[in-house]
Amino acid sequence: MSTATEQATTPAPAPQQQTVTFKILRFNPDEDTAPHWQEFQVDVYPTDRVLDALTMIKGEQDGSLTFRRSCGHGICGSDAMRINGRNRLACKTLIKDLNAKKPITVEAIKGLPQEKDLVVDMEPFFQAYREVMPFLITSGHDPSKERIQSIAEREVFDDTTKCIMCAACTTSCPVFWSDGQYFGPQAIVGAHRFIFDSRDEGAATRLEILNSKEGVWRCRTTFNCTEACPRGIQITKAIQEVKRAVINS
Ligand code: F3S
Ligand code: FES
Repeated sequence: MSTATEQATTPAPAPQQQTVTFKILRFNPDEDTAPHWQEFQVDVYPTDRVLDALTMIKGEQDGSLTFRRSCGHGICGSDAMRINGRNRLACKTLIKDLNAKKPITVEAIKGLPQEKDLVVDMEPFFQAYREVMPFLITSGHDPSKERIQSIAEREVFDDTTKCIMCAACTTSCPVFWSDGQYFGPQAIVGAHRFIFDSRDEGAATRLEILNSKEGVWRCRTTFNCTEACPRGIQITKAIQEVKRAVINS
């Protein structure tokens, strides 16, 4: 029988590699008339991320597989994709958190034009963000010292400063998919970050923009956006706060 000391020092078993099937929705505008599924088998560890698997497929099986990525650590927001039917960042999705006994499906995010494989045209998304003027608006002369803000004042919009603009929220919203007339949750999050900033003087203009037919009233409180956000931002709550600010403006 082993002693307590021996048990305490026994190393944990090394994680086992397993062969997992990835089913990827491919589209090459030069060759295809419509997207089609293609399967790849990849040997991965449970602690690998979906981004690791895609990198292995691209490096070892099919160099034409196209996807965006940059930081690899959930900061740049470039690798949002639909994994097993849910919007997530490939670099933050571990194999062990998916059911790897079945094929793992990977598709481009929905509601934006698919350019190639997992890459979409982000321009309509960025255009909506630009329209809410996501920058500090002030009047008068530049101050000669720092603009002071209390901890309590900063706290009001702290959550919406965390956005990395990955588009996981906007492209999970059924209203955004269906009518193409909605700014989408990310643009409202971007506006929220400045509307509630005590140093900013542009709230009235932003609220007027968001009171338009493309604005906050299109939100049906579906909560898909909140569930999809890889930063855990309470997006639906932020949208409700903007709605209330419009009513009180
Ligand atoms: Fe869409 Fe989020 Fe509203 S998913 S309907 S923006 S709560
Ligand atoms: Fe930067 Fe995933 S690669 S967020």
